[in-house]
Amino acid sequence: QPLNPQMEGSSVLRRADCRAKGGSSGFKVAILGAAGGIGQPLAMLMKMNPLVSVLHLYDVVNSPGVTADLSHMDTGAVVRGFLGQPQLESALTGMDLVIIPAGVPRKPGMTRDDLFNINAGIVKTLCEGVAKCCPNAIVNLISNPVNSTVPIAAEVFKKAGTYDPKRLLGVTTLDVVRANTFVAEVLGLDPREVNVPVVGGHAGVTILPLLSQVKPPCSFTPEETNYLTNRIQNGGTEVVEAKAGAGSATLSMAYAAVKFADACLRGLRGDAGIVECAFVASQVTELPFFATKVQLGRTGAEEVFQLGPLNEYERVGLEKAKEELAGSIQKGIAFITK
Ligand code: NAI
Repeated sequence: QPLNPQMEGSSVLRRADCRAKGGSSGFKVAILGAAGGIGQPLAMLMKMNPLVSVLHLYDVVNSPGVTADLSHMDTGAVVRGFLGQPQLESALTGMDLVIIPAGVPRKPGMTRDDLFNINAGIVKTLCEGVAKCCPNAIVNLISNPVNSTVPIAAEVFKKAGTYDPKRLLGVTTLDVVRANTFVAEVLGLDPREVNVPVVGGHAGVTILPLLSQVKPPCSFTPEETNYLTNRIQNGGTEVVEAKAGAGSATLSMAYAAVKFADACLRGLRGDAGIVECAFVASQVTELPFFATKVQLGRTGAEEVFQLGPLNEYERVGLEKAKEELAGSIQKGIAFITK
C-alpha cells in the first residue's frame, strides 16, 4: 500500500469508488497554493463544507503532508493531493470552483504592489491551467495584488478564448469581514448583525468602506468615520506588522475565503439572493474592474450592483480609489498584452 494514498498517482483501497468520483451531489473544488499560510486553514474549512464532494489540493511544495493530514477528517469531501506543475492539469480537470491563494505574501514595509513581480507570473501559469482544464469553473482569486491579478487572469482567459467575466471573482471578502468587525466594535454591536459594503479594490486607498450604507442603519461622527476608514484600509498592514516578517493575514483570510467560496457554491446550487462584494469586471465606473456587491448565481456573478448613494466623504474617497486602481489594472493588463 502507498503511504499517502490520497496523492495523485496513488490509489485508495475501496469497495466502491462512487465517493472517489464525487457522487452526484456536491461540488468539486480545487485550491491552488493549498499548503500555504492561507491554503492550509482554507483547505481544512473547505473539507468541512457540506457543499463540497471533492477537494483537490495543489501546491508546488508540501501538498502531500497537508493532503494526508486533512484526508483523515471524517467529513464528506474526498481529498486528493497534487504536487508540482506536472500535476496541475489533473488537479484542475472537472473542477466547479478554483480558489487561488498561491504566491508570496507581504512583509513589513511592503505594499501589495511589491508582490507583483513574483505573483503575476504564478497567477498567469495557474490561470492558463484553468483555461485548459476547467474553462467553465468559477475562479476565486486571492493572490495579491488582487487589483492587478484579476486583470491578468482576464487577459489569460481572453487569450485562451475562455473568458467569461461572470466567472472571474477577485476575493475582497476580508475587507468586508474586517469592516463588519471594526464597525461593530465602535457601535457596541455583535459583528454578525453588521453588514458594511466595501467597494473599489483590495489595496490601501482603493479599499472604500461605504459607512453611509451600513446595516443596521446608523450614523458616525467625522472622527469615527476617519478612524474606521483608515483602520479598514490598513487592516492588512496591522496584521503584517504584528506578524513581524512571518507573513500576512492567513487565518482571517481563510475564514473570509470560505465565506465567499460558500456563497459562490450556494449560488451555483441555485439559491436565491446570494449577495457578496467582489472585485469583478464592471461597468459601475469608467474602470474595467471594480469591487461592488454582486449577485451570485448558477453562472457566477450574475448581476453587478451599482454603488448606491454616497456621501461627500465617500465621493472624495472614490476619486482617490479610482486613480490608484486605474494604474494597477493597467499594469496587470500590460503584463499579458505587452
Ligand atoms: P504563503 O507563502 O504562506 O503561501 C503561498 C503558497 O503558494 C505556498 O505554499 C507556495 O508554495 C504556494 N505557491 C507558490 N508558487 C506556486 C505555484 N506556482 N503554484 C502553486 N502554488 C504556489 O502565503 P499566504 O500567506 O498563504 O498568502 C498567499 C497570497 O494571498 C499572497 O499573495 C497574499 O498577498 C494573498 N493575500 C490575499 C488576501 C486577500 O484579501 N485577497 C489577504 C491575505 C493574503
